Amino acid sequence: MADLKNEIEKRRTFAIISHPDAGKTTLTEKFLLYGGAINLAGSVKGKATARHAVSDWMEIEKERGISVTSSVLQFNYDNYCINILDTPGHQDFSEDTYRTLMAADSAVMVIDASKGVEAQTRKLFKVCVMRNIPIFTFINKMDREARDTFELLDEIEKELGIATCPINWPIGSGKDFKGVYDRNTQMVTTFSDTQRGTKEGETKEISIDDSNLADIIGESFAATVQDEVELLDGASAEFDMELVSTGKLSPVFFGSALTNFGVEIFLKYFLQMTSSPLPRNSNIGPINPFGSDFSAFVFKIQANMNKAHRDRIAFMRICSGKFEAGMEVTHIQGGNKKLRLSQPQQLMAQERKMVEEAYAGDIIGVFDPGIFSIGDTLCAGSDKFEFEGIPTFAPEHFARVRQMDTMKRKQFVKGISQIAQEGAIQIFQEYNTGMEEIIVGVVGVLQFDVLKYRLENEYNVEIRMENLPYEHIRWIANKEVDLDKIVGTSDMKKIKDLKGNPLLLFVNSWSIGMTLDRNKGLELSEFGRD
Ligand code: G4P
Repeated sequence: MADLKNEIEKRRTFAIISHPDAGKTTLTEKFLLYGGAINLAGSVKGKATARHAVSDWMEIEKERGISVTSSVLQFNYDNYCINILDTPGHQDFSEDTYRTLMAADSAVMVIDASKGVEAQTRKLFKVCVMRNIPIFTFINKMDREARDTFELLDEIEKELGIATCPINWPIGSGKDFKGVYDRNTQMVTTFSDTQRGTKEGETKEISIDDSNLADIIGESFAATVQDEVELLDGASAEFDMELVSTGKLSPVFFGSALTNFGVEIFLKYFLQMTSSPLPRNSNIGPINPFGSDFSAFVFKIQANMNKAHRDRIAFMRICSGKFEAGMEVTHIQGGNKKLRLSQPQQLMAQERKMVEEAYAGDIIGVFDPGIFSIGDTLCAGSDKFEFEGIPTFAPEHFARVRQMDTMKRKQFVKGISQIAQEGAIQIFQEYNTGMEEIIVGVVGVLQFDVLKYRLENEYNVEIRMENLPYEHIRWIANKEVDLDKIVGTSDMKKIKDLKGNPLLLFVNSWSIGMTLDRNKGLELSEFGRD
């Protein structure tokens, strides 16, 4: 048992979120480098190659040269076992990106110092807030011309509504990037731009009060950092671990992932400030991660990782106990059916490998013969319970989809339903008719291409898609409301999901407001829950 406790205690599971190009991939590579998981040659390999090695699973990714899938990487550092949940880096991200956050215990938000808060970060951030998970900010690319530091922090606070607490503070930026000042140790770590791809940069540490500081970083920089730190000590939020753990205060770090500056400092503080996996809620109360019985929930289903076998892999987050290959578990949503999880695998750094054992906090992928759905619970003990469901995230693009060949109706419905079950798309029906018309909703428009591609390649069905003008979908939170009686704007559309739950589609947010005004007592929600 001591072993189990020890193994779980050293687990840290976090997601990295950012807007494309802020440096998420580079930062991840540097983390792996510290863990010794990739060697020097691996780290300097072009981004495109490195990415493909990890997630070259779907043909479409290869074709378009982008990463559609999210990957999970595990590495060891300083007696910690770290799981990084990477999220797709392309603009056209999908619901999977949101769901990945459901499996993480904390999030690292990477921000480009010259750009500040960008659209995709904003969206993902909302989900972190909904879950109250700790959010760490890494302000990257300090080796490039950056925006004013106070202004950046102000923007994070205002735009994202979270307080910030800089743990370190940058001195200059771009050509004049001199290093960072650690507010904890009161030491300045100097920067020199020659360390691309290496593990440790050539840094020097010097106290902020040392009279040699001005000689090393220049008089005006030394004076500025002293002034700014004074200002900061008076103005910024005080560090409060309680607020950090509930996601109300974000510790902020500065660095340059590319030149590998500030990455290890960040990693060390991050590990100190985060905890091992915490209990997760279920219908019988919180489940203790240190309990000896294995339990997990499915947060992602990946189709056709191996096209030759047309298989699916269900990714699950282990929430308690220990997993052992071949163990028998109960699939709660499958009518408490007992099954053996076969071909369990894990991504270690850049390779997929079979796992013999895994612990609470870890993510494993198991072969799915088509029985799992997103949110399903698996458990091994005598207690049978269901973890709290994963919400459905609001799609932002909608299209009406028809098969070209009416004779292929059956394949069409099967294909589109299976793809929806994997969670890549959501499907809806007209409110008053049957399955004839299918409306597809996606979070990122790329999913339309993926759908078309997969229906043609895997199900041999050609489809025609007609884009619809709606951009907002709302679930009706108070179920007693009679959909027939809702008076909306002329551009509002009533639809239902496959379970018959009523939903509303809107072209713009103004219509949402109008509809709420016209129907007193109506409550609309951006997240769907069963
Ligand atoms: P992403 O996963 O968030 O999309 O970003 P990624 O790490 O791929 O980085 C995007 C670009 O920004 C890359 O350049 C990368 O080298 C660069 N970059 C990342 N971190 C830093 C940093 O700290 N400083 C500077 N100056 N650049 C950084 P690229 O030209 O698009 O790709 P590559 O050819 O360098 O691989």
